[in-house]
Amino acid sequence: MAGSLGWRKDQAASIVYEHGNILEAEWGEGDLIFIASLLFGSPFMQQIHEKSLKCKKGSWLITLGARLPNSEFIFPDLPFNPDMHWQVMFMGRLAMSWGWSTINIHKKIRDPVASKEAKIE
Ligand SMILES: C[S@@+](CC[C@H](N)C(=O)[O-])C[C@H]1O[C@@H](n2cnc3c(N)ncnc32)[C@H](O)[C@@H]1O
Repeated sequence: MAGSLGWRKDQAASIVYEHGNILEAEWGEGDLIFIASLLFGSPFMQQIHEKSLKCKKGSWLITLGARLPNSEFIFPDLPFNPDMHWQVMFMGRLAMSWGWSTINIHKKIRDPVASKEAKIE
């Protein structure tokens, strides 16, 4: 695959597939995190959000359905929540194999913190 896209195979990113609980797996070092979170409830999204606070500044996180709790669009002329870690960069509806789904693309705008240090309302 990498070769057919014009990339050298030794430069292609490696992908590891793991089967496990997202709340127990380590994904804080990821540059791009995709969570197929369609129909995940608010308490579970809140747990995912707390875990995501360890992610690197500048990393990207994609959810389906609901956006991450505490994440918002930033408008230059409006105040924003200073405790916010994830800025919503895009929110829209895209066609998936099963139909239309809301997709939310977030960018981490703050340095990583352990969840217990973060102010979460
Ligand atoms: C909306 S489905 C998406 C299914 C599939 N990934 C897809 O894109 O078609 C959500 C998936 O999240 C998985 N899931 C639920 N809780 C999870 C958890 N704690 N850790 C990892 N996966 C979980 C479910 O098993 C389910 O497969």
